[in-house]
Amino acid sequence: MPVRLGDIAPDFTAETSQGPVHFHEWIDGGWAVLFSHPKDYTPVCTTELGAVANLKSEFSKRGVKVLALSVDKVEDHRGWIKDINETQHTQVDYPIIADPDRKVANLYDMIHPNALDNLTVRSVFIIGPDKKVKLTLTYPASTGRNFQELLRVLDSLQLTAQYSVATPADWKQGQDCIISPAVSDEDAKKKFPKGFKAVKPYLRITPQPNK
Ligand code: BEZ
Repeated sequence: MPVRLGDIAPDFTAETSQGPVHFHEWIDGGWAVLFSHPKDYTPVCTTELGAVANLKSEFSKRGVKVLALSVDKVEDHRGWIKDINETQHTQVDYPIIADPDRKVANLYDMIHPNALDNLTVRSVFIIGPDKKVKLTLTYPASTGRNFQELLRVLDSLQLTAQYSVATPADWKQGQDCIISPAVSDEDAKKKFPKGFKAVKPYLRITPQPNK
């Protein structure tokens, strides 16, 4: 079964490079990113895990925990982490799930056999404090992900969870937002004291409410 937006993220217990993780307990009411890689000791994966480790302060300032997954064993992960630290000039300090029996990979539909046989593709799940899935992304093995884009989406998700706004194409933190169509003009005047501009009746722009 695919995991869809709005679903409760499937729970699991798994071995990781930092000991066992009980997923729902580990989320602990915060935001989480679960992301998979095809295989240990592979080049693109090495750069991706290093990129995430180097963004540690960006994830933690947003209150987001990260959890990686690769189908290899814990001993492989531990050896590979040393290589990642050395080559990407970082310290991987988040857990990597060891999933040799593909239990978590299958639970999250991370194996796409017509693309990559018996290995996980590059899946991403962002999970909110309510344990619901807020974003899914799937990249092929040949293309490393843009983790700045994940931070951008996290900013949008955290903002739109708090205010009745949506964020437009290519939005970045601090830029103008769109007032949700469900909010009437009358309510918008109360909710958005900085004011708004109605470009069209359905396209109303307001400064980012929490800036
Ligand atoms: C890589 O990480 O470079 C990779 C992994 C599996 C297949 C192809 C590339």
